[in-house]
Amino acid sequence: MDQDLKIQLNAAADRLCRASEGLAASAYALSEDVKTATPALREAASIGVWTGGNPALAGWENRTAVLVLAFGTTYRETRAKTIEAVEDAIRRAHPDFPVFEAYTSHIIIDRVWKKEGIRKLTPEEALERLAAEGYTRAAVVSLDIIPGLEYDYNRLAVRRYADRFQALSLSTPLMYYQGTEGRPDQVVEFLRALSGQLPPAGPEEAVLLMAHGTPHPANAYYAVIQDRIRELGLNHLFVYSVEGRPDLDDVIPRLKETGIRRVTLMPIMLVAGDHAVNDMAGPDPDSHKSRLEAEGFAVSAWLHGLGENPAVRALYVKRADEAVAALRTLGTAEK
Ligand code: CO
Repeated sequence: MDQDLKIQLNAAADRLCRASEGLAASAYALSEDVKTATPALREAASIGVWTGGNPALAGWENRTAVLVLAFGTTYRETRAKTIEAVEDAIRRAHPDFPVFEAYTSHIIIDRVWKKEGIRKLTPEEALERLAAEGYTRAAVVSLDIIPGLEYDYNRLAVRRYADRFQALSLSTPLMYYQGTEGRPDQVVEFLRALSGQLPPAGPEEAVLLMAHGTPHPANAYYAVIQDRIRELGLNHLFVYSVEGRPDLDDVIPRLKETGIRRVTLMPIMLVAGDHAVNDMAGPDPDSHKSRLEAEGFAVSAWLHGLGENPAVRALYVKRADEAVAALRTLGTAEK
C-alpha cells in the first residue's frame, strides 16, 4: 500500500477511533430511573462483553481457562496459519491460563473427524469439559467477524452453561461497536488492521473484499463497512459477499462506472478455506474470478485468511483481554 494512502488512512482512523479506546468492554447501563428491571430487560441491556455465572459457586477455588470459539475449517494449512495462529497469540498474551478451542460448525467437526481423525469439540462439549475438569471461571473468545448467527450460537451456548461456573464471559466478535455512545468504531479498527495487507492501487485497480453474507440482520455490517471505507477515502475498496448482499452482481456495475479494469479478490474471513479457494478464486465458470474475467476484468486473488494478518490477530487478542478483564471485574457473579 502506498505511503500517502497509509498516512491518510491512519489520520482518519485516529479521528474516528478517538477517545473511545478502553470502553469496548463496558456494557450499556440501564437508566437508574428503571426501578423494576426484569431479568429479560437486564439481559437485553447487556450489550458488549456478556458476563454471567452462578453466585452459589462464589466460594469455589479460582481456576480460570480461556476458550476460543471458531467456525472451523477442513483446510489444514489455513487452519494452522489462521485459527491456531490467533489461539497462539492469545496464549502468549495470557500465559497464566490454559487456552482451549471449540468449533461452532458441526459439519466441519464431522468432516475433520472423518478426514483426519481429529475430534474437535462443539462449544457445548468444550464448556461441559471445562466444568467437568474443575475450571470455575472461563473467558470465552469468539473469532467471528460480525455478530451474526454463529455469534448468536456462541452467546446462547455460553448462557446455557452460566450455572456451571462461578464466572463466565463472552467476548464480542472482531467487529461489534460502531462508534456510537462513546464506544470505539470497530469497523474502522478493522479497516486499519486490514490496510497492511492491501496491495498498492493504481487508478484502474480495485480490491474486492469478499465477506461471507448471511440472512441474519447482521448482514447490514457490510453496508457499514462500505460506509467507513467511504469515510476513510479508500475509494478503490468494494465489499461484496458470497451468500448475502451486496453480491458480485451488485458490485460489477459499480466497478464499470468507475473505470476499474483490474481487481484483486480478498476474503474478509478468518480462514482462506472453501469459499476463498473455490467460490472466490476457483477455476469453475461460476467462481467470482471467472465471472469477473468474463466481464473483461484482469483478476488476481489474495488467498490468505484474516488470521494471517498480525494486526487482525492483535484485535482478537484485545477481544480476549476484554473477556478476561470482564471475568476479573465479576465479583459475586450476577445471574
Ligand atoms: Co459458508
